[in-house]
Amino acid sequence: MTSSDKHEEFDVVAGASAVGFTPADAQELGDRVNNRSQRPTSEAFKEFMASSWAPAEPVQHERDEVAEHAAARRSAVSAQFPNERLVIPAGPHKVRSNDTDYRFRPHSAFAHLSGLGVDHEPGAVLVFEPVEDGTGDHGSGHEATLYFKPMAGRDTQEFYADARHGEFWIGPRPGLEEFSQRLGLRTEDAGALEVAVTKNAGPVEFGGTRIRLLREVDLDVDALVDTSRINTTVDLETSDAYDGELAEALSELRLVKDAWEISQMRVSVEATIAGFHDVVAVLPRAAEHARGERIVEGAFFARARLEGNDLGYDTIAASGNNATVLHWIRNHGAVRRGDLLLLDAGVEADSLYTADITRTLPVTGEFSPNQRKIYDAVLAAADAAFAVVRPGIRFRDIHTAAVRVLAEHLDDWGLLPVSLEEALEETGQHHRRWMPHGTSHHLGLDVHDCAQAKRELYLDGVLEPGMVFTIEPGLYFKNEDLAVPAEFRGIGIRIEDDVLVTEDGAENLSAALPRSAEEIEQWMQGIWSS
Ligand code: GLY
Ligand code: MN
Ligand code: MN
Repeated sequence: MTSSDKHEEFDVVAGASAVGFTPADAQELGDRVNNRSQRPTSEAFKEFMASSWAPAEPVQHERDEVAEHAAARRSAVSAQFPNERLVIPAGPHKVRSNDTDYRFRPHSAFAHLSGLGVDHEPGAVLVFEPVEDGTGDHGSGHEATLYFKPMAGRDTQEFYADARHGEFWIGPRPGLEEFSQRLGLRTEDAGALEVAVTKNAGPVEFGGTRIRLLREVDLDVDALVDTSRINTTVDLETSDAYDGELAEALSELRLVKDAWEISQMRVSVEATIAGFHDVVAVLPRAAEHARGERIVEGAFFARARLEGNDLGYDTIAASGNNATVLHWIRNHGAVRRGDLLLLDAGVEADSLYTADITRTLPVTGEFSPNQRKIYDAVLAAADAAFAVVRPGIRFRDIHTAAVRVLAEHLDDWGLLPVSLEEALEETGQHHRRWMPHGTSHHLGLDVHDCAQAKRELYLDGVLEPGMVFTIEPGLYFKNEDLAVPAEFRGIGIRIEDDVLVTEDGAENLSAALPRSAEEIEQWMQGIWSS
């Protein structure tokens, strides 16, 4: 849909604002968005547009596979916040520019607890209503209800005149029955949200119900809760702290993935591997183009859209010195023969789980001896990190293992200005000049998943089966780095895999993608010769 199409609705939906209007030279700026509209506003047009559409066929929907898992997650949240009302918005459409929105993507906590993935559902809010303990959903102390704006019938003005919600404009959307059948959740029209959120709200010491809100997801919901708090003299500062605890708890709930989440991680990893394959296939063409990195980015994105929903994050397609720029997402550089290409990319599945994988590839299909020396050091660091992963170790031990190996290589190459031992001390850390990021982060619905978890459960946390995270050591020597000899400069190498903690060790979910220099060379040649 073009943006000019999109505005046709407004003279029908919001046309009332133009009635009895002042002369054009006095027209207020805010009203001028309607100036392009040519849609008729006659009653005859409205009547005709709302008539003679086949009624939507009723469909019985199967229960989504995720539903039972989402229910278990809701029970876990319920147990943490007895007698409190929990409000978890999906978030609204986000404006990209002027009247053009981004594709909708719900907040990850909402997706996790509702089971909803791609497209669903702008403006929706999940409310946990406290009930007597044991009498709620699945024997919990809460009843969860999903509030959203269901699709309007084809005989309504909304059907043909609302470009953000109407089926005529954006295609079919779910109704209350559909989500209820698919998710096993109560569903209610969004019109009932205000009462549901605010009823009996107030200071607990005066018999009111405490609301905890996942803040800054939907500003309309923030305003609704804040107004209720002000009206009922609930202390705002204390409430902020309660809200913060909810955000933290919802983030921590995702530290250990359930069986369905792990299956989705496998889906996204597999699609990502297919995307890396496609990138290798276009690499010779990328090397011919002034913006070869864009060719690489485009090839990966094409695969992401075919196999899943989107990208979990902007692709880093970085060749030559650009590979030393950690957040290189401009991707407008050339891909030159003799250089390396660092590709950090992840397909987001329809369920919204994302992979996060990096491979560093020789553009010619063959590493130079110098590139190979640095590559092998990074691979050794990754292998050392993998070797320590098992239930019971601390998350931070993974980084320690990887960084020690990198520091040893940097020492062997004579790059450290102090002894290896001094560098490894807290007070040293000179090697971090060339490996400035962490080795691992949790991965799931968000690429940097569980980011609001407490330090003692994240960095200082102990690994458990079901945790999924990256191992991604790298070395980055910038062109302008005078602390290294010339032959190191302009080389950035990272190897990133997605790891599942098992009962007794780790599974590399991205193991099907070649890792060693020889495997990569053979794999690339194989793709080019097939
Ligand atoms: N692609 C972002 C990261 O590796 O953390
Ligand atoms: Mn990563
Ligand atoms: Mn990455």
